[in-house]
Amino acid sequence: MNSILLNTINRKYSDRPPVWFMRQAGRILPSYQNLKKTHRFYDMMKDKNLASDVTLLPINDLGVDAAILFSDILVIPDALGLDLEFTDKGPKFNNPLKFDKPNSIIYKPEKLDYIYNNIKEVINKKASNIPLIGFCGGPLTTFLFMFRDNENNRNFKDAIKYFYSNREESLKIIELITEASIDYSVKQCKSGIECFQLFETYCGSIPNELYTELILPYSKKILNKVKEQGCPTIFFPKGFGEGLRYINKDICDYASVDWHMSLNDARTLLDQEVGIQGNMDPRILYYKNEKIEEYLNSIKKFGSENKDWIFNLGHGFLPDIDFRKAKLVVDWIKKTNWKR
Ligand code: CP3
Repeated sequence: MNSILLNTINRKYSDRPPVWFMRQAGRILPSYQNLKKTHRFYDMMKDKNLASDVTLLPINDLGVDAAILFSDILVIPDALGLDLEFTDKGPKFNNPLKFDKPNSIIYKPEKLDYIYNNIKEVINKKASNIPLIGFCGGPLTTFLFMFRDNENNRNFKDAIKYFYSNREESLKIIELITEASIDYSVKQCKSGIECFQLFETYCGSIPNELYTELILPYSKKILNKVKEQGCPTIFFPKGFGEGLRYINKDICDYASVDWHMSLNDARTLLDQEVGIQGNMDPRILYYKNEKIEEYLNSIKKFGSENKDWIFNLGHGFLPDIDFRKAKLVVDWIKKTNWKR
């Protein structure tokens, strides 16, 4: 397979960095917004024709080098019995974890079967040089969301309180999440994904020492099981900060870095054997074109010196970003002489 993304991960470097974006499937694309007029998000996810089409939209509309599966990290709590619903304001669970409710979590693996069919459909439809990225939520991020009983409950207050006051119970739940996530991620590999990203988007909601001690072993376990399947792994621990120093090749192939830190600082903290992905602040896409290009020029040196770099955002697209600005970024990356 002649994919610039997979070649870069395998250290067969090109004259430019590969590019894809977190949250590229859906959200900012007019072609997706058009579909949203007549279809609901969760219904599209459960329809293998639509889910595979939406997965591939950004290849055409933006020209990115990889597809990421159109799905969501919250399917794991759904399969753990929490009954996921997407309202106009966001996701919620009809049967959430409650502060005072003893946990009765039972994993029903068959609830995720439709996703494996979506993966197979994408593999059938896509061009051979475009790899499909599968994903799963990180154990802490998934745990925090599991307390969300209504779509306005966004600050994880109950979940964090539970984590601090019921440590042992919390870790038991996180272990169950991990086991389900491993089953789910390994089955994604068996269905055909060619790269895998673990989204630990709320890593920064506890101190990085605590994350490293208590949660990182679980994240590592998921990433290692995926790697055992021969699938390259990317870990996105958003807000991990100085914790990046604990990430090495035994954990993942690549670390995706958020926008709080410069690429150079992140590179210094990370183990040299781990590749780096990131970290454009998505809000730069609110700038005028000239100022966006100014930013891109400012990271050119990093891109010429670091061939193991994958261009991406430091967090997903915001919903109201103009897709033409994202297209401008992809075009710029492709036409620039990176002096490698
Ligand atoms: O990257 C991609 O485009 C692939 C698909 C993907 C979605 N969600 C589709 C989605 C991925 C990788 C995610 C990850 C995800 N989902 C995260 C971690 C990464 C991040 O960006 O923070 C989190 C925390 C979620 C949970 C979630 N899903 C929330 C809070 C919401 C509502 C608000 C929002 O972000 O839009 C969703 C809904 C969701 N997931 C949408 C999409 C395309 C929007 C639904 C719609 O179109 O109405």
